[in-house]
Amino acid sequence: MYVAPSLLSADFGRLNDEIAAVCEAGADLLHLDIMDGHFVPNLTFGAPVMNAIKKAAKVPLDIHLMVENVDFFVDYFLDFKPKFLSFHIERATHPLRLIEHIRKAGVSPAVVLNPHTSLSTLEYILSEIDMVLLMSVNPGFGGQSFISSSLAKIAALRAMIDESGAKCLIEVDGGVSGQNIAELDIAGVDIAVAGSFVFGSNDYAAAIKALKV
Ligand code: DX5
Ligand code: ZN
Repeated sequence: MYVAPSLLSADFGRLNDEIAAVCEAGADLLHLDIMDGHFVPNLTFGAPVMNAIKKAAKVPLDIHLMVENVDFFVDYFLDFKPKFLSFHIERATHPLRLIEHIRKAGVSPAVVLNPHTSLSTLEYILSEIDMVLLMSVNPGFGGQSFISSSLAKIAALRAMIDESGAKCLIEVDGGVSGQNIAELDIAGVDIAVAGSFVFGSNDYAAAIKALKV
């Protein structure tokens, strides 16, 4: 299991230290939640803060866009050269075009599904992307409870990927903790995003280790 701590739950007054600490504690990726106040009722970071994050991060960035204007924000965040750039399928007008655009920029394209969004939306996309991010909470805030129906959805996606032969990773985001990581692993998750579980603990290394099942 790869672990991507979500910076949303960090102490924003000490971002440099928080990023250094989580990288040293064994994070594989740094998950960054980009919220526009429209697609989700919250706002996070723009370019000035992103520049500071990029400088401080010793691991690749995993950018999760939660925005209405997907085309605009894809270009805006491609500049920060993340490992993964993921956009919500619910807001993309021409997802295949966007996927190609992201790949051409040398970044791994990924698609995000809200908890209510059917896996059938992935049918003609799966072979073109490097990762599917399944939301296991309604996006917008850290610290929410894991939606239990996500487990069956993850297992169904695992089967869909294996049957299709696509080389696509599964990431899960929302309510991930030491309590449910074993079940998530069995269901087929490759990358666990964890905000409050990591940044809410007083030992980041121990929290990350608990997720590396
Ligand atoms: C929610 C974000 C998550 C959030 C997860 O919209 O996409 O990345 O930070 O936080 P936890 O792990 O606390 O549920
Ligand atoms: Zn996220």
